[in-house]
Amino acid sequence: MTDTLADSRTSSRMFTDGVPLVVEDVTRRPAAERAGILADPGFGRHFTDHMFVARYEVGRGWYDARLTRYAPLQLDPGAAALHYAQSIFEGLKAYAQPDGTVATFRPEANAARFVRSAERLAMPPVPEQAFLAGVDALVDADRDWVPTGPDQTLYLRPYQLAVESFLGVRPAHEYLFLIIASPAGAYFPRGVQPVSVYVSEDYVRAAPGGTGDVKCAGNYAASLLPQQQASALGCDQVVYLDAVEKKYIEELGGMNLFFVLGSGADAELVTPELSGTLLPGITRDSLITLARDMGHRVTERKVTLDEWRSGVTDGVITETFACGTAAVITPLGEAKARTGDFLVGAGVPGTLTMALRESLLDIQHGRVADTHGWLHRIA
Ligand code: PLP
Ligand code: COI
Repeated sequence: MTDTLADSRTSSRMFTDGVPLVVEDVTRRPAAERAGILADPGFGRHFTDHMFVARYEVGRGWYDARLTRYAPLQLDPGAAALHYAQSIFEGLKAYAQPDGTVATFRPEANAARFVRSAERLAMPPVPEQAFLAGVDALVDADRDWVPTGPDQTLYLRPYQLAVESFLGVRPAHEYLFLIIASPAGAYFPRGVQPVSVYVSEDYVRAAPGGTGDVKCAGNYAASLLPQQQASALGCDQVVYLDAVEKKYIEELGGMNLFFVLGSGADAELVTPELSGTLLPGITRDSLITLARDMGHRVTERKVTLDEWRSGVTDGVITETFACGTAAVITPLGEAKARTGDFLVGAGVPGTLTMALRESLLDIQHGRVADTHGWLHRIA
């Protein structure tokens, strides 16, 4: 049995000034098929019935904003993004709430970061309100795809790419802004088990003046070879050092890092400062607030690989974890580096790591009061 949206309509929503957000009638997949996918969604493998698309042309601005059937794109083989990676993305999640509604988490922060990413890649920014309207419209249309299992979510992937067919190297004159949605379980198939990391001393993720502080596609392409190197050594993830001195710990390929010093009520958190080469994570920012709410001191400063290694060896650093939208909070276990391997903590998730994880998930899933106003309900 297949059900469809009642009719094709221009919703009362606007994408941006003068540009209505059109909702198209799409064929939805049968409920049984959806239920089968939601029972074990994995991460990033399945997509919902709809996608959001808007177009941009220099001289015309944004136009043709529509929620339409999830389907392959038609791109000219000369499309600039395919050649010069003028392409950016975001990642945020929609959470089923106990009262049956759906909420996204701090979407305004993603909208603002998307603008910064666009500006860095010389792309026309999607106005923040338009970004939010697109996200809301997609989540609203695909509400049935928001899974309700423990810690399951609907992962949302807004992205923007240059589609003008032109091979000269300059900012393109035509763009697509899209949002797709993917029901998600745990990012790491083993769940909340410590991940092993390889400290890359050969490759860097970002250099001063580069693009490390924005979410552009090229950053992730460049991370694949070091990731392969890590996998060959039996490690799950890569820890990157700063490009200049190769001394300071920056972040993972897709997650920020925190170190816990001491234990119990007096435990302190340290996270690498936003030096211009790190991605300012929304999870990172939220955890700084939550840890302070819990009475812990949090410091943003430089941390060297030597400090990390000696800290875990002599017991000063008791826990290390990574955080990001996709993976939430993931404890670090074994660390391998050319200059010597070491074990972080006892190879089991740390106490504060798990307490912060619970605290963040409780807010996101609506199990506790949202005192910071981070949840955005989809009307
Ligand atoms: N660092 C990088 C390089 C990322 O790609 C991400 C993911 O978005 C993060 C950190 C975590 O950011 P957020 O917490 O906003 O998802
Ligand atoms: C996220 O956490 O949303 C990310 O973008 C990280 C990764 C999946 C690229």
